[in-house]
Amino acid sequence: MNNGQQPNKIKVGVLGATGAVGQRFVQMLQGHPWFEISALCASERSVGKRYVDACKWNLRGDMPARLRDVILEEAVPGMDCQIFFSALPSDAAREKEQELAAGGHIVCSNASAHRYDEDIPLLIPEVNPEHLGLIEIQQRQRGWKGYITTNPNCSTTHLVSALHPLHVAFGIRKIFVVTMQAVSGAGYPGVSSMDILDNIVPYIGKEEEKMEKREPQKLLGRFDGNKVQMADFVVSAHCNRVPVRNGHLEAVSIEFDRKPTLAEIREVWMNYKPLAQQLGLPSAPQPALIYQEEQDRPQPRLDRLAGSVPGMATVIGRLREDPLFHAKFLVLGHNTIRGAAGGSLLNAELLVAQGYLGAKAATLANLAQLA
Ligand SMILES: NC(=O)c1ccc[n+]([C@@H]2O[C@H](COP(=O)([O-])OP(=O)(O)OC[C@H]3O[C@@H](n4cnc5c(N)ncnc54)[C@H](OP(=O)(O)O)[C@@H]3O)[C@@H](O)[C@H]2O)c1
Repeated sequence: MNNGQQPNKIKVGVLGATGAVGQRFVQMLQGHPWFEISALCASERSVGKRYVDACKWNLRGDMPARLRDVILEEAVPGMDCQIFFSALPSDAAREKEQELAAGGHIVCSNASAHRYDEDIPLLIPEVNPEHLGLIEIQQRQRGWKGYITTNPNCSTTHLVSALHPLHVAFGIRKIFVVTMQAVSGAGYPGVSSMDILDNIVPYIGKEEEKMEKREPQKLLGRFDGNKVQMADFVVSAHCNRVPVRNGHLEAVSIEFDRKPTLAEIREVWMNYKPLAQQLGLPSAPQPALIYQEEQDRPQPRLDRLAGSVPGMATVIGRLREDPLFHAKFLVLGHNTIRGAAGGSLLNAELLVAQGYLGAKAATLANLAQLA
């Protein structure tokens, strides 16, 4: 692709660059202190076309001028990208991400294809950075020069972000969650307007299975040096599509091993300063969790961009006693920012800062941040 790139930045490619999440990657990577886009990739329908012609830009603000004339490519090993950010549909992601990792690239994926593989980290930098230890095992077992990391699905990301410090402090036994998920979570063009206007669709394919059986248990599981021992709690999830453009709202009830007071729960959230925030990663919101006092918040339209890095924080509110469980509250988070592209981006920043791209990248990143 065209040049004008900065020599010290880490070159990255975006897979699925024309889609809802791919566009978020493109937007979030503009002006990033460590990363610079060197390739945009999409399906065979779009390969060979200019980005501006193949992509119906759906985000606020213009498509970045530097990228309008870039020709979309097929992603192949050996391209000039140390990292590929993947916004591919899951079926397309399975083979492609493996092929790229085998060829020496680092793949930071949004797709569910590899989230549940035992040797592939499912990561939220604030929650389970120690799961990066799986990378060495993955490379050894598969004989890959590169590797894959994944981030969870958009509703799990915000649920687990709010739960993590509570699980550490009090132990979680049961979770009951009802999601109200935005239409952008279904990609573009996604749900038909005739289906969603004046309506709620009480079903999202495979979403409840991901939240109930797979993702929270792996994220909050313990890495024992060889594998992740799944966390031992039960989740019941009801997932609904609602006529909101961006931002998933979730009503959560929890039972703990030891029942805390509401004040103790609040204190744990207020004092939460995990590794990503301590390291000052560029996309890490400060703080990671925002508690809203107003009794009618958080709301998607008002609060999905709250915090120091818009769309990256998890917003919590309405903590109260639960007559069936121990406590209940609301969680809100942006689905295509922290729930998708921003989650992968923060994973990549953690990889750099922890030396998983080599000492040179880590040093350059530190210098760029200090500049
Ligand atoms: N939307 C969200 O809030 C969200 C949140 C978390 C995770 N995710 C996950 O992120 C991924 C992308 O979701 P999305 O909502 O952005 O979907 P989307 O809007 O439908 O975009 C899909 C993208 O993948 C490309 N693509 C499709 N088939 C391909 C193939 N066989 N080979 C190469 N490229 C192909 C498309 O290119 P063309 O334009 O050429 O067709 C397009 O760029 C999915 O795995 C999804 O589950 C989404």
